[in-house]
This record gives sequence, C-alpha cells and structure tokens, in this order.
Amino acid sequence: SRVAVIVVAAGSGSRLGHAEPKAFVPLGSDTILGVALDAALGMRETPHVIVVVPADRVDETRARYGPVADAASAPFEAVAGGATRQESVARGLAALPQQVAVVLVHDAARPLTPSVVFDEVVAAVRSRGHGVVPALDVADTIKRVGEHGRVLETVERSELVAVQTPQGFPRRALDAAYAAATTEFTDDAALAASADMTVDVVPGDARSFKVTLPADLRRAEAMVAEREA
Ligand code: C5P
Repeated sequence: SRVAVIVVAAGSGSRLGHAEPKAFVPLGSDTILGVALDAALGMRETPHVIVVVPADRVDETRARYGPVADAASAPFEAVAGGATRQESVARGLAALPQQVAVVLVHDAARPLTPSVVFDEVVAAVRSRGHGVVPALDVADTIKRVGEHGRVLETVERSELVAVQTPQGFPRRALDAAYAAATTEFTDDAALAASADMTVDVVPGDARSFKVTLPADLRRAEAMVAEREA
C-alpha cells in the first residue's frame, strides 16, 4: 500500500486510572486500540498499518489484531514503542515498507476519529505535497499566564486552533524531519515544522477527542454503545 497509518499506543495512560496501558483498556466489545484500528481500516484506500505498543504487548497485539487487519486486506505490523511518543513514532517509521509515500500518525487514544478524516488528510497531503493536520477552532478564551497565575495577556482566539490526529505527511519529508530532530516536540506537526516543512490544517472532528480522564472514557463508551446499538 502507498498509504500507511502508524497508530501509537505505547503510552501508559496513568491518568485514566486503569492498571492496563490506555490502549488496552476495554471500550465497547473491543479495546481503545481496537476501536482506533477499525477507524483506520475503514479508510477508502486500504492502508498499511503499523501499531506501536509497549514491548511486552507486541505478541498479543499481533495475535489479536493481525487477523482483524488481515480480514480488511491491510498489511499489518506490531512493533515495540519507546519512552516518549516521539520515540514511539520513530520506531513506527522505521518499520514502514519502501513503497509507502504518505504516512499518517494517529493516537490510539483518539479511538472515535471518523474514517473520513483519515481520507481527507491523505487527499490533502497528496494535493498539497506537505504536512496536514486536522484542527478545531478553540471555544474558550485563552490567556498567557506567568508566575502565581498572573494573567499576562489574552491570546487572539481567531488565530488559534486545537490540533488532533491523524497528522499526515509525505513519507520522505517526515523521515528526514525525524532524522534531524534533536529535541522533543509535542506533536508531529511541530517536529515537521522544525525541519522547515510547511504544515496546513484541515477541519478536524469533535469525535476525535483524546481519551485522557475517566470522564473521557465514559463519553467514548456512550458513543460506542450508540454505534453498536
Ligand atoms: O499520553 P498521551 O495521551 O498524550 O499519548 C498520546 C498517544 O501517544 C497515545 O495514543 C499513547 O499511547 C502514545 N504514546 C506512545 N508512546 C509513548 C507515549 C505515548 O505510543 N511513550
């Protein structure tokens, strides 16, 4: 496949209050990772899928989700992640086959992203030839604060967006940006921009919210229950 999705799922997710790593927490009749994987497999163009998981979960991930990908005719690989999200993405990139031209990096922690968002990111990467990230307008007024919570300024909201995943890139450019990165970035778009890649936003989706706290998991459960009904 010329398109790959790297699903990063190697975080501990301690804020969710489960003993298991976040991606392996049950969601509906599956796990957070399983639901995220289904979204990627629902893409118009069947992707090559790389799932990045904790080292001690690689075998069970292959056994459980390899057949799911196989049923969708998607090439599938599970690899061990690293200490940071950035390192986990790097390990996923290292596992990509030669022919992949467009790569999407997606957080397993955003299991309910609609498949059409993946399709739109791929199409935009192809037509623009650079990085593309889904984003939403910011609803709250955002302030820059200093010591002791002193408000320093109100940031102009019309210039702000909140970015989500999947974030898409031309594969060669993302490989080069990762090879050049010497510090930690909070998302792939920031890492890409540090290597002078142009990055555009496309419309994100409210359903792409990140499962971080127990209340987020309850919201995801309600959405999956509605979908499975
Ligand atoms: O912790 P946070 O929710 O910001 O993580 C975002 C995504 O990155 C999650 O899907 C998580 O599993 C993944 N991650 C990873 N390797 C790490 C840390 C986070 O794959 N070392």
